[in-house]
Amino acid sequence: MLSLFLIVAVAASPLVSSSGNYRQGRALRLHVYDDKNINTNNLDIADGPKTLTACHLHCVENEKCVSYFYLSHNLTCRLHSIAFQNTSHAVDLAGSAYYQIYEDWCLPSDGHILYRPQRVCYKFYTNLKYNYNDAMAFCQGKSEELLTVRNADKHGQIIEFLKDFYKGYHVPFSEFSKFFISANNNTGELLWPDNTPVVYTDFPPGEPSHENENCVTLLHLFWFRWNDAPCDSLSDIICEHYEP
Ligand SMILES: *[C@@H]1O[C@H](CO)[C@@H](O)[C@H](O)[C@H]1NC(C)=O
Ligand SMILES: *[C@@H]1O[C@H](CO)[C@@H](O)[C@H](O)[C@H]1NC(C)=O
Ligand SMILES: *[C@@H]1O[C@H](CO)[C@@H](O)[C@H](O)[C@H]1NC(C)=O
Repeated sequence: MLSLFLIVAVAASPLVSSSGNYRQGRALRLHVYDDKNINTNNLDIADGPKTLTACHLHCVENEKCVSYFYLSHNLTCRLHSIAFQNTSHAVDLAGSAYYQIYEDWCLPSDGHILYRPQRVCYKFYTNLKYNYNDAMAFCQGKSEELLTVRNADKHGQIIEFLKDFYKGYHVPFSEFSKFFISANNNTGELLWPDNTPVVYTDFPPGEPSHENENCVTLLHLFWFRWNDAPCDSLSDIICEHYEP
């Protein structure tokens, strides 16, 4: 599944030269979406005809904007709150182009996705299956950390991303994807790796359900809400790093 990230071709980046927090804002054109359009996870449709550069600035100025389509048939700019990863639900639209926002410390060319409101950069690995300890070590080996979800805003953005990624993707129950988060309950209290207590949680009713399941996953079956899981079960991985 990672191949999609690698198909992305050259950067045709409208560069932003304005000063301030947004000075790093750049965009990578993802050619797999040439002549396509996706009308979900919309933040805003810029009114009036826009140039591509104006569209870019519009996205960069909206912290929630992760990507945008520029629809050249009517000079419309549509901002999106996630970076799309699955072309299967795109519709044909001649002349449109799609760009993903990035900053120097978070590069889409190697599969990373920036979430600007929390100054965090993710990478999703859906072709690996690791237990909790190996997942922690895997991310550390990349100078990153296993996903930490301390608030609903960050969790919500990841849920929207994963829903898009798996749209229409049906698998047998036993193979439903799950992603460990970095919290564990090995001490009898759910803690993040820095030993701070887990305050925000999103277990659906009936969860956590097993005393001997000391780890937590975002479970596809629950639309990526929380589920307690054995630490030796195998999961997909989301690594992340914060702005240096
Ligand atoms: C531009 O085209 C898109 C896609 O066909 C459409 O959704 C949008 O409403 C149009 N915008 C304007 C301002 O006409
Ligand atoms: C996208 O969705 C299709 C089905 O709609 C699925 O087969 C595919 O695995 C999904 N993921 C990617 C990365 O294409
Ligand atoms: C953590 O472990 C304790 C003791 O086994 C248990 O009572 C509690 O429900 C667990 N919490 C979670 C979130 O799994």
